[in-house]
Amino acid sequence: MTAQIISGTELAKTIRTNLADQAARLKADGIEPGLAVILVGDDPASHSYVKGKQKACAEVGIRSFLYTFPVTIEEETLLEKIHELNADPAVHGILVQLPLPEHIREWSVIETIAPEKDVDGFHPINVGKMMIGQRAFLPCTPHGVLAMVKSVGIEIAGKHVVVVGRSNIVGKPVGQLFLREHATVTYTHSKTPDLAAITRQADILIVAVGKARLIGPDHVKPGAVVIDVGVNRLENGKLCGDVDFDAVKEVAGYITPVPGGVGPMTITMLLHNTIEAARQLAAK
Ligand code: GUN
Repeated sequence: MTAQIISGTELAKTIRTNLADQAARLKADGIEPGLAVILVGDDPASHSYVKGKQKACAEVGIRSFLYTFPVTIEEETLLEKIHELNADPAVHGILVQLPLPEHIREWSVIETIAPEKDVDGFHPINVGKMMIGQRAFLPCTPHGVLAMVKSVGIEIAGKHVVVVGRSNIVGKPVGQLFLREHATVTYTHSKTPDLAAITRQADILIVAVGKARLIGPDHVKPGAVVIDVGVNRLENGKLCGDVDFDAVKEVAGYITPVPGGVGPMTITMLLHNTIEAARQLAAK
């Protein structure tokens, strides 16, 4: 039996219809949700992601403001811009597209964003609140992954979730979100010996490494839910995930494709957080 495909594109469409309604209602109350996006340098992938985010904003009725800077920008200039956006009442969410050039300290940039405008959920205050179960902006990709797993209607409590990858953006927080849902969570990474022996125990396998086709059918328990966060560009220009989709779909119970899987859900959760930020800031 082949796996059921969890389409991020379809799920994102449903959620965005609801978000567009919410944005319209806020607008009727005189609040137009606004997202400021800062893009540094000319990495083609970053430019493409930012374009996707702006297009999605326009579709649901969020104003977006784009600030582009050359790769040579000084950290201080970038921080000044963030301070300015922190104080701008038309801006409810601030997103600095990562990665940043090496001479800019990522943590310094993230910590300068006002936590109440941190729609990426990267500020240590929001990370800490998420860890202890307080209300906070959830990081977009982990939140999107959770929504995709919930969409198939399986019980998460008591399930074994194995996370491959331990980045601050995806691996670490996604495990925390599933722990909050009462799953048993195992983290694995590049130093984990015999990765397959552990991933084969997963009821829900979440892969966020950035290595094309790292996960094959031997890594997957029959019937498991497999969520592929990886986006890798092959030599032929095509995108592919960290999971060997064609082979693994013959073993898994559910699987997400790349493209059309987690990507559209990440953007959807960014829209969700921006609308929430607008609502909260307006209520202050
Ligand atoms: N780069 C890769 N993913 C992300 C993300 O979710 N947010 C930001 N700001 N940069 C990223």
